[in-house]
Amino acid sequence: MKITYYGHACFLVETQGYKLLFDPFITGNPLASDVDVASIKADYILLTHGHIDHVLDAEQIAQKTGAVIISNFEIVQWYIQKGLKGHHMNHGGKCTFDFGTVKFVTAIHSSVLPDGTYGGNPGGFVIWNDECCFYVAGDTALTYDMKLIPQLCPPLSLAILPIGDNFTMGKEEAVLAAEFVECQHIIGCHYNTFPPISIDTEAAVSHFSKENKTLILPLIGTTLSF
Ligand code: NI
Ligand code: MN
Repeated sequence: MKITYYGHACFLVETQGYKLLFDPFITGNPLASDVDVASIKADYILLTHGHIDHVLDAEQIAQKTGAVIISNFEIVQWYIQKGLKGHHMNHGGKCTFDFGTVKFVTAIHSSVLPDGTYGGNPGGFVIWNDECCFYVAGDTALTYDMKLIPQLCPPLSLAILPIGDNFTMGKEEAVLAAEFVECQHIIGCHYNTFPPISIDTEAAVSHFSKENKTLILPLIGTTLSF
């Protein structure tokens, strides 16, 4: 699988010939000003919750690419009413798509859409196929529900966790989350985009390595292979 980081909590995962775009917030992120949104291709757009720093560019990219939006019931309904394609899910459910299986899992956070529409409950995704199994936590606090993931899903090769604190887990909780989900390799996100989530990235990386975990902080616009 290949992962491209587009800043904040936005990632493009390429697996089994499909492109999955998570939480597109690019045009509103000055740190991602070099990313050419118009050139992004996606087969699916997966949204963890309705906050604008996760959905800002979803409508435009879905319109352009014909991507199917996968999220909770309320968020998908909001996009279907705009004429876009979507697949509704809800917590605890899983569904097998052409690219693999998606399980929609708990996140402790809030969710409202940009126009004030109720955005359902926020979530995270565990996704697996023959090539990989990875967890995208979304915006969340540390929660004991994360311990259910290793019991219900294949072993994780990668987890994408927020580390910016203030609105989500900080590094101390994120390293425990890595423990709970039994994953060695973590990509950190949701940090440094805004002043309340500025962090000392070196301290975060060394905090993880003290706990024998690897925290990867990709540069915006770069692609990693796993
Ligand atoms: Ni949020
Ligand atoms: Mn957020």
